[in-house]
Parts: sequence; C-alpha cells; structure tokens
Amino acid sequence: MKFGYFDDKNREYVITTPKTPAPWINYLGSEAMFGLISNTGGGYSFYRDAKLRRITRYRYNNIPVDQGGRYFFIKDTSDGEYWSATWQPVRKDLDNYECRHGLGYTKIKADYKDVESEVTYLVPKGENIELHRLKLTNNSSETKKLAIFSYIEFCLWNADEDDRNFQRNLNIGEVEIDGSAIYHKTEFRERRDHYAYYAVNREVSSFDSDRESFIGTYNNLNEPQALKSGKCSNSVASGWSPIASHCIEIELKPGETDELIFGLGYIELDQEDKWESKGVINKKPAVAQFAEYSTSSAFEDAFKIIQDDWTKLLKPYQIESDDKNLERMVNIWNPYQCMVTFNLSRSASFFESGIGRGMGFRDSNQDLLGFVHQIPKRARERILDIAATQLSDGGAYHQYQPLTKRGNADLGDGFFDDPQWLILGVCAYIKETGDVSILDTFVPYENNDELAQPLLDHLLRAHNFTLNNLGPHKLPLIGRADWNDCLNLNCFSDQPGESFQTTGNRKGRTAESLMIAGLFIFAAQDLADLLTTIDKTEQAEKTLETAKEMADAIRQHGREKEWYTRAYDFFGHKVGGEECEEGRIYIESQSWCAMAGVGLEDGFDRIALDSVKKHLATPHGIVLQDPPYSEYHLELGEVSSYPPGYKENGGVFCHTNPWIMIAETMQKNPEQAFEYYKQIAPAYREEISELHKQEPYVYAQMIAGKAAVRHGEAKNSWLTGTASWNYVAITQFILGIRPGYNGLIIDPCIPTDLGEIKVVRYFRGTKYNISIIAGKEEKGIFINGKQSDSNEILPEDNEEINITVNI
Ligand code: GLC
Ligand code: GLC
Repeated sequence: MKFGYFDDKNREYVITTPKTPAPWINYLGSEAMFGLISNTGGGYSFYRDAKLRRITRYRYNNIPVDQGGRYFFIKDTSDGEYWSATWQPVRKDLDNYECRHGLGYTKIKADYKDVESEVTYLVPKGENIELHRLKLTNNSSETKKLAIFSYIEFCLWNADEDDRNFQRNLNIGEVEIDGSAIYHKTEFRERRDHYAYYAVNREVSSFDSDRESFIGTYNNLNEPQALKSGKCSNSVASGWSPIASHCIEIELKPGETDELIFGLGYIELDQEDKWESKGVINKKPAVAQFAEYSTSSAFEDAFKIIQDDWTKLLKPYQIESDDKNLERMVNIWNPYQCMVTFNLSRSASFFESGIGRGMGFRDSNQDLLGFVHQIPKRARERILDIAATQLSDGGAYHQYQPLTKRGNADLGDGFFDDPQWLILGVCAYIKETGDVSILDTFVPYENNDELAQPLLDHLLRAHNFTLNNLGPHKLPLIGRADWNDCLNLNCFSDQPGESFQTTGNRKGRTAESLMIAGLFIFAAQDLADLLTTIDKTEQAEKTLETAKEMADAIRQHGREKEWYTRAYDFFGHKVGGEECEEGRIYIESQSWCAMAGVGLEDGFDRIALDSVKKHLATPHGIVLQDPPYSEYHLELGEVSSYPPGYKENGGVFCHTNPWIMIAETMQKNPEQAFEYYKQIAPAYREEISELHKQEPYVYAQMIAGKAAVRHGEAKNSWLTGTASWNYVAITQFILGIRPGYNGLIIDPCIPTDLGEIKVVRYFRGTKYNISIIAGKEEKGIFINGKQSDSNEILPEDNEEINITVNI
C-alpha cells in the first residue's frame, strides 16, 4: 500500500494523506540554520548544533506522535470552526491534503470548506532564517472572514537541559514584543550573545508569547484557548514556556488569494552591540534580516536559488534508465540523503533526538564517500576537522561536537576500527579531485596545534595504529568495538543501565576483529595506490607487504569451513564460528574480507558469499548475523541485548548490505548484486509502505530481520551510513563508474535485463557521456567509437568524452 507517489520532474515525494504509518520527514537548511519537518508540520529548528542551540521545542515519542512544530490554525469566524493548515495539531478531517517534500523545502496543502491553504517552508541559502509562507485562497462564492493563528514554542537553547532542569527553566523565559515580531531573549542578559525571533509581514490583531495563556492550562494543542475565544490575549511571557503566536484577521472575497510570510530568525551579536538601551535588545539586525525576506518576490527568489543549487549539486552523476526507481534513487533521493547525512551526521531526525551524539569519526568519514563529488570543498574542510581529532598514537576520538569541533570521549572511546575510515575518506577525496596537496596540509593531533603534522602523516599513523595493536593471532585488536558498536568484547557489563559505549570492565588484549582485518587490507591497498601516485613507491610496497601479512593471518586463523570467522573474544573463543550455537555467521567479516579480496585466488570469497546468501539473505535484505542471540552474553555485550531480529542482533542493518553488493560485483555477479540492491532501496519498497513504515524516499538504518516479530518493518530513517554506502555500491560498483587517482574508471556490473543505461558524469572538469549496454556480443569500452585498452579514462579539460561500454 502506498501513501503517496514520486513526482520525479519536480524532485518531490508527494504524500497524499496525513496519516502516514509514521511521520515522514524532510530537512530545511544546508549550512548553519537547520530544521526538520514532518508531513504534518511537526519538527524543530536549530542553529548548527541540535543540542546546544535548539531554537524551537519538539516532543519526541509523544501521544499523539509528532508534537511541536510550526503550526498554523485557521478559524472561520462566521461559524467558529477551526482547523490546521498542516492537519496537526487540530487533526480535523480535511477535504483535501497534500504534502510535497522537495530538496530543502516542504510544501503542505489543505482544503477545508472551500478555503485552500498552502504553507511552504524553507531556509534561504546562506541565511539564518527559516521562512514559512502561508497562501490562502477562498474557493467559495461568499466572502470569508478568517482569523489565522501562527504557533511555535521556543526551546531554552540547550535541548538537553530544556527537558530536565525545570527548577531553573521555568523561571528564565524572557521575551520582547515589537510590532509583529516576538523576540526570544532568554538568557541573553548573561553569557549568551544570541536571540531568536518569529515575525510576520503583516500587522497583527493580537499575539501571545506565553504558552499557558495561548493554550489554557489544561487544554491540548488541538483546542487552544485562543482559538476558542477567537483571539490571542497579548500575553508577555515571563518564565514558564515562551511561545510565539500571531493572530491575523483576513477577509477574502470569492476567488481571492492572500499570502503571509513568517520568519523564524536567529541573530548573533558582538558583546558591545547587544543592547539598544538598558535591558532592551538590539533588534536592528533582526529587522534587517526579516525585511530582506518578507516580500513574495524575495521568497520566490530564495526558493529558486535552493532549486538551482540542487540542480548543480546533483549534476555530477545523472542517469537515464527504464527502471524509474533506479533513476529516482540515483539521480535524486540517495544523493539528497547523503548530503543531509553529511550535514547532520547522526544528530537530529525522528529517531535521533539531537541531544545524543555529536559527529562520529567513523560515521563522518563514511558519509563523505557518498557526498564528496557534490561539494569537494566541504569534504576537504570536514576531513581536516575530523583529522584534527585524531590521537597522536593514530587512534581516534570517537566523536566531536560540531559547535566546538573538539573531540570528546563522553560517548565512548577506543573503537579500533576508527582510524581506518580516515584513510578511506581522504583517498576518496583525492580520487575525486586529484588534490594531493591536501596531504601536505598541517593538521593538529588531539586538537593541539603544537602536535600538528602533514595529513599524510595522519594516514600513516592510522595505518600503523592497527599494526601496533595486533592480538594473539596477529589479527587486529577490536578495542571497545569495531564498526559494530554492539560487539563489546571487553565490556563485561552486568549492571542494568550501564552504557555499553563507555563501560569497560576488563582491559583485554586478546579480543580480535576479522572485520577490522579486512577493512585494514582494503584501506592499505587504497593507501598504497595513493603513495604510488605521489611517487612514494617504497612506502607503497611496505604498505602492501603489511596487507599481505594480514591476509595470511586471516587465511590461517579467520576461516571456518564456509565463511570467515567474525572475531575472537576476551577468552580467545570464536565469535561467528561453526561451533557457535548462536551468532554462527556474521555479515561484516564476509563483506570486508571479500572486498579486500583475501580469498579471491583460492575461491574462498565465493564460498563465503554463497554462505551469506544461504544463511543471511531474506527478501527484505541481508541480516547482520544468524542465528540471533536469544540470551544475554556477558562476554559479547550489547549485540546480545536486543530482541532477536532487531538492530545488530540479526536485523537487516542496511549499512552492511552494500558491502556485500560490492563484493558480489568483484565476483562479477551482477544479478545477485542488483537483487540485494533492490531489496532495501526505499523506492522499490514503496508498494509495501504499510509494512516498511518509513519514508519510501530515504533509507532506514534497519529493517527488522527474519527472526523479528515484524520482519520487514524499518526503523531509524534518514541519518545513517546506509545512505553513502548504498550510493557507492550502486554508482561506483554496480553501474561501475568510479574515480581513480588518475582518471574515471569504467567498470559496470549490471544485469542484462536492465537494458541500456546512460550515465552523465562530470569528473575533474570533463563531461563523460557513458552508455552501458549489457549482453552485447562484442564486449569492450569504446571512446568516441574507438576501442580503449584501459578502463581508466583520463579527463581532458573542459572536453566531452563519449563512451560506450558493452558488457
Ligand atoms: C550506528 C553507528 C555506527 C555504527 C553502527 C553499527 O549506525 O552510528 O557508527 O557503526 O551503528 O553498530
Ligand atoms: C547502540 C546501537 C548502535 C549505535 C550505538 C551508538 O549501540 O545499537 O546501532 O551505533 O548505540 O549510539
């Protein structure tokens, strides 16, 4: 069952009922001012950091779900009926409803009793203001007198404190009202140099800034006191919960349309500029900011700039195919999700509360893989930020806070896979851009300038970190955990409530990871190619030598009969071994060892991948391991704490599936790779939305596995490494167009029944027009009609290259 449809031409997903199985969300903003917004107007705004600079309130996991947003109530004064322009919070059955989630904006339409409304939400590029345009049309044959009420609730800046520290919070709220603008100046008097405001480009007939006055102490948000009485009470918040609501009276003749523009702005001031007079905030910058965007034409311009920007961002990789789901995933939604994930890491979504995590070292490096071709400049910045949090022994802070860019260990440390991802991130950046100069850039260790070294040194230390931390079988130690946060082999947590991410009850140097072993080899090969490119051949050879030794260790100690072992635990027992009753086979070691080609020569990779198919594959994707743990294992940690079939305990953890797709392409098995791709790609799951439950336009982190009660149901959409890895798998390995250090590599692996696929790829200033045809007699790569003997095609400045590939 579907709840909407793709509008490919407008790059929108159109939702046709407000009652989606879960709130289906979208994001506003791309640089500093961000918001998330659901299909019924729910969500919140923040400046840079969803935890430390939260501007509006939202109530996670509420009843009913999705409470708090930028809401508009419409009241027909002739009969007193009222409803919401976004369905929530009033939830009155509308005559018509439509939500269009587009790239960087959301448009929600409602019809009720011949009043048509349309709200468009966006953040103009480069500005710290969120705009809400409300259009109203009278489709009846009588004049309509309407009262419009806006509504947002301010957050007291730190979203975490906001939800906890009530003895303070309920005293500190302060506002100023000036004309049609309501200023949230809570705490501005002391250390804060910023305030927020909500304004409208029209005279208001009344307003409220105190929540209780607007709603009524014991009312719900679907029946505010102000709506009942038909006007706000001009309340001035003092403590309690500051809000902003404007009441505007509008008269519409038959057929007439009116339009209001609201601005939710964020202003930062220098210390000496903070005040207009004693106790009165300096509103000049706010007034100027809003004035710039308070006309219809300015709004339209801002909208157009966002659209053009997206056209530019998506341009480097566009395809044409008869498979429309493939087209919309590759051309629009997957790269869009990659960009959002890159911007927000794992901070704010419907599942990530915005207070939990900062930017992850491994997460951000992987996010970069899917996004680097969109804006290489920002990828470069991000690399330097991340690398600056690397530890001098080559290890890494697991997280850093985006506002401060400093590493912190509050959320756990000692994840021994972390450094390897930096190698993959930097190599991807250099392959895309050719910018080897980044390797000479001095970057601090541990955010300490005195410890700065060239970036290349960071990569070598990352590589050596693993070599310096080998266990009894000469395989990499796992540390707190590897990519699988839940494989906590040194944790031994026996107290409820202990965090698996920070508790470490034993300091072991025995637990080893086959996943890191495979990843290490994969990264080492990439690094060696890079070293060769910059003429450090001797170092390149040394690097390859270490990779060979690691492969030997895997062949000796990391193989079961039919698959790769997953790990050795604290006691030296196998995890993911034949003799294990549960957790016998894991996906991560199959994929990474096969991607590293450890068993390419003797056919063992094929055997391991066949075991993946036999034991782990389902119609809803490949589960992480099988059989899932039915009881808690002290020596394994969090993985065994989840119910069978969920999350790391045998869920389809979608991040891992593309690794298998890539490994299958390396085995030249296009049918299998593409089948795995389609099983989890959201557009292909649109028809089963009632089961899948999450947005059909973006990936979710997890789909419940075969042992789960609700096999096929997804959770944790949007902010997941799934986005970038699936993008890499489909664009670089299945369609097979990927950057090399010198040129663009053309290496498609597509099933015959896909027919012809056209790819336009802009790479280092050259436009490559590539046509891929599967199932042709005469195989090969033809450049402007002439067969090429290499599959790495060098760019020719500002030229177009026409390539035909027959496979
Ligand atoms: C989450 C984390 C990621 C981790 C994965 C597997 O997605 O953000 O860092 O690798 O879970 O546990
Ligand atoms: C939990 C989750 C895992 C996530 C980690 C970090 O362990 O199961 O997916 O990566 O938390 O927040």
